Amino acid sequence: MTEPTYLHATRLAYDTVAEDYAKLVPPMFEDDLYGRAMISTFAELTRALGAGPVADLGCGPGHVTAHLQALGVTAFGIDLSPETVAVARRRHPELRFDEGSMTDLDLADGSLGGVIAWYSIVHTPPELLPVVFAEFHRVLAPGGHLLIAFKAGDRLRHVENAYGHELSLDVYWISPDRIAELLSQTGLMVDARLIREPNEQERPRQGQQAYLLARKPARPEPKIANTIV
Ligand SMILES: C[S@@+](CC[C@H](N)C(=O)[O-])C[C@H]1O[C@@H](n2cnc3c(N)ncnc32)[C@H](O)[C@@H]1O
Repeated sequence: MTEPTYLHATRLAYDTVAEDYAKLVPPMFEDDLYGRAMISTFAELTRALGAGPVADLGCGPGHVTAHLQALGVTAFGIDLSPETVAVARRRHPELRFDEGSMTDLDLADGSLGGVIAWYSIVHTPPELLPVVFAEFHRVLAPGGHLLIAFKAGDRLRHVENAYGHELSLDVYWISPDRIAELLSQTGLMVDARLIREPNEQERPRQGQQAYLLARKPARPEPKIANTIV
């Protein structure tokens, strides 16, 4: 099957910036305490569920994967860009990182207790997000949790220079209402959303940032036929 142009462009862009992107990631999300709080909640929920590992999809240099592991969650990362995966493996040799796309995951149905997509859906054209969310739904175990971080809004920016490199990459801002609607159309239930204002480094170019926690409904409990009333 021919690869969509945007996937090819995204892989190429992150292969180009992989090393420099990794250098700019702030340790322990110290510029984003609200995001960190959502990750902690997600970690607690997936630990309590105990339904399998967490996949960090579009893991970049692996800092979210490592943070989850430090919170007691078994986590591994997947990223589209081979150069990015190489950086993640070098930085976190104790963790597993694979190449792959969230549009077509090489993972069994229902095999994950959680999926996290931390600013990694931002390069997917919004009209193709149902494909991605259907994959999230497929790989999650019943009751499994999903955490997505993204830029809130409704616009597209074409980036031609980033982290000191020339590249060609589309970035999408999407409204939290639209994401919530797409998730529920896929069969995922939204449990919580947090929308924060841009911090000092993000202003004035960035707007609000959004974090959505959702869940794949657990299978209905089997009815007990011989209940004595
Ligand atoms: C903005 S970076 C975020 C990286 C990391 N999650 C973070 O918070 O720093 C977006 C990442 O998503 C990856 N990505 C984009 N589309 C993807 C896809 N379809 N499948 C897997 N990874 C993807 C890119 O290669 C890149 O590493």
